[in-house]
Amino acid sequence: MSAGVDAAPSPIRIQVENGPSFSVGPNEDTLLRAALRAGLAFPYECSVGGCGACRFELLDGVMDTLWDSAPGLSERDRKRGKRLACQSRPCGDASIRVRLGGEAERPPVAPRRQRATLVERRPVNDEMVELSLQLSDAPPFLAGQYALLFPQGVDGARAYSMANLDQGDGRWRFIVRRTPGGRGSTALCDGLAVGAEVEVDGPYGHAWLRPSTRDVVCVAGGSGLGPMLSISRGVLAGDAARRVHFFLGLRNEAELAAVREIDALADPRLQACVVLSAPAGATAWTGATGFVHTEVERALSPAGLAGFDFYFAGPPPMIDAMQDLLMVRHRVPFEQVRFDRYV
Ligand SMILES: Cc1cc2nc3c(=O)[nH]c(=O)nc-3n(C[C@H](O)[C@H](O)[C@H](O)COP(=O)(O)OP(=O)(O)OC[C@H]3O[C@@H](n4cnc5c(N)ncnc54)[C@H](O)[C@@H]3O)c2cc1C
Ligand code: FES
Repeated sequence: MSAGVDAAPSPIRIQVENGPSFSVGPNEDTLLRAALRAGLAFPYECSVGGCGACRFELLDGVMDTLWDSAPGLSERDRKRGKRLACQSRPCGDASIRVRLGGEAERPPVAPRRQRATLVERRPVNDEMVELSLQLSDAPPFLAGQYALLFPQGVDGARAYSMANLDQGDGRWRFIVRRTPGGRGSTALCDGLAVGAEVEVDGPYGHAWLRPSTRDVVCVAGGSGLGPMLSISRGVLAGDAARRVHFFLGLRNEAELAAVREIDALADPRLQACVVLSAPAGATAWTGATGFVHTEVERALSPAGLAGFDFYFAGPPPMIDAMQDLLMVRHRVPFEQVRFDRYV
């Protein structure tokens, strides 16, 4: 090497106990994302420190912890030396203990991180906006997958699901709910100007649309609307015999403008049901009320829930109720149930 030229830093090597090794590039932000980019079936769900699915043990080496108090680890986990791969950044070569998934859990597409430009912002209702990002070097994504957005000045990443279908044009659309007091969603909904750039990393997630001949049930709680629109679009663009039963849970009439997003799909193979949990005019609203999972059971259990494929996304209580309904009470096979929990 000639004098004065710096050597490129050699990649960090991570050895999985009794498993493969993989390298972590110099610009990689976390152990999890490096492993997924390397094609490993590293366990994960949320990617943002909330669920605990990416727990591992560090056997040798040093790693930085990005978010010390991430709720995905309990005090007991911490005492037992567990770490979260989505909140760990390797400082050098290391060896780790983790149970990798099988072939089916490998990332279907290698995620890529890049800057994207906000090209359109459109209100969905008073609480939600659709953000359209243009990526210049976008990998393909599957219906139902999500991406990580890194709003400027906000610690950590935020996960948002694509609401559209991949058309190969690098346009990724997200429906983002403005969470009261939420730093990331407020920065995206109100702070990001059209024409401005934001870092995006994806696609991620396991709840993508699988080929099947069964009809599909989509259940969205609030901003879970986005991925369920993507799944519905995927079903309607495919096998002409497959139907979609779309259930949307909202709080009250003030949020109803969001229903236009489903109406715009305008397909006789899609049937929609809106459920309000707390209608303001209980006597004026003639649609369904209460919990959305209760309405799913009321409407579809006579046909036998095990005859459908289920996709759902939304807040943790809705996810828990859906899992209990499908997997415990109606014995719907595990491989017919896919969801994203908005931790
Ligand atoms: C798989 C998945 C898909 C999602 N899809 C959507 C969607 O399509 N639309 C939508 O509106 N919402 C979606 N969400 C919820 C979304 O990611 C945010 O949790 C929500 O917008 C609230 O974020 P906030 O920044 O406003 O709130 P905040 O309270 O500021 O942040 C909460 C989120 O930020 C993370 N976080 C907080 N502090 C830190 C820190 N110091 N370091 C690192 N991370 C931190 C948390 O894990 C949590 O995810 C999804 C969540 C998941 C897990
Ligand atoms: S994937 Fe790391 S905590 Fe959820």
